[in-house]
Amino acid sequence: MILKRNERVLEQVDSPFESDPRILEFHKRLDGYATTDLVDLPRVASEIGIGRLLVKHEAERYGLPAFKMLGASWAIYRAVCDLAGQEPVWDTFDELAAAWAPLLPLRLAAATDGNHGRAVASMARRMGFSASIWVPIGTADARIASIESEGATVTVVDGTYDDAVAISALEADDHTLVISDTSWEGYEDVPTWVADGYSTIMTEIGVQLAELGVEPDAVFVQLGVGALGAAVVTYFKTRPDSPTIVGVEPSDANCVMAAVEVNEIVTLPGPFVSHMVGLNCGTVSPLAFPVLRDGLDWMVGIDDEDAYEAMRTYAANGLVSGETGSSGLGALLAIARAGKLADVGLGPDSTVIVINTESATDPENYLRVVGKTPEEVIGL
Ligand SMILES: Cc1ncc(COP(=O)(O)O)c(C=O)c1O
Repeated sequence: MILKRNERVLEQVDSPFESDPRILEFHKRLDGYATTDLVDLPRVASEIGIGRLLVKHEAERYGLPAFKMLGASWAIYRAVCDLAGQEPVWDTFDELAAAWAPLLPLRLAAATDGNHGRAVASMARRMGFSASIWVPIGTADARIASIESEGATVTVVDGTYDDAVAISALEADDHTLVISDTSWEGYEDVPTWVADGYSTIMTEIGVQLAELGVEPDAVFVQLGVGALGAAVVTYFKTRPDSPTIVGVEPSDANCVMAAVEVNEIVTLPGPFVSHMVGLNCGTVSPLAFPVLRDGLDWMVGIDDEDAYEAMRTYAANGLVSGETGSSGLGALLAIARAGKLADVGLGPDSTVIVINTESATDPENYLRVVGKTPEEVIGL
């Protein structure tokens, strides 16, 4: 484990992202919306030596096994409204699809390690659009099959996630919208909307914390290109008395840590071999970078074994979580094991939030790591 304090962190952060309640209202209008649980894990908290551990359990959104649909749906909605030149009047998915029918044929293009691409493909299918998705070499067959099951065409790129992003970016034309969760010069609206879409997680957490009557002392968030992390910072660090924010990456794909240290975006060459595939990114999103640099208090690099330990911990408590999904808890467990909780300001009175961002998206590896299927874990 690598644990680094961010010497550049600011008390309050200016952010180009928003966590507007109208985004939650949008998500509520999409068929299949349900608030995800904020689960208390008292046994794990006492084993670690903290007061309370709360898990925002994002194992399912709109029938997909990750939180990513929140960002993809809002970004696609905003991008298609821009293309159409107006916001349609609608209440259900079917009405939205009917309102956009005159825009057909329309194609969505995206790069992914699995979860974002599946969400883009799923939105495309529901709207009657087509979808072309690019994945890095080594993407698990199960992840490719799940994207194809949404009717999308999947192309395997002989390179990293960054290479897949570069190839998908070339696809933009009159009938193709590129829906990327990372930004580049001249391409900023869509990745802004993706991160804005993630704010629904925090808006829900805000309501749930108010119901419980607790304030968190720390929030652990996993970082790929940094869009989710930027959404977390935007929500918590643009108000007074913000909690400590801890960013988590694989120790070899720690592009945020590397960039924050030199105060400049750097590209790590890869190949990245971690099973936390959602975090195998070599370059932080330029839009997210200043927000993370100003807002993260601590940065942690962890190894697959740390994430596996967290997968087993979740399973022992009846929660299913994949490698990337478990990494936030994995970092907390690793810090506790290393006897460094006090270094990050945590102790027996602290309340910590971790976000389980996905379910078992690689079932083969899940069985190998946990020794049970997801169905066995949740007692089906
Ligand atoms: C399950 C999961 N969690 C977290 C992340 C990290 O999100 P971001 O790339 O916005 O930092 C990803 C990214 O793909 C993911 O798939």
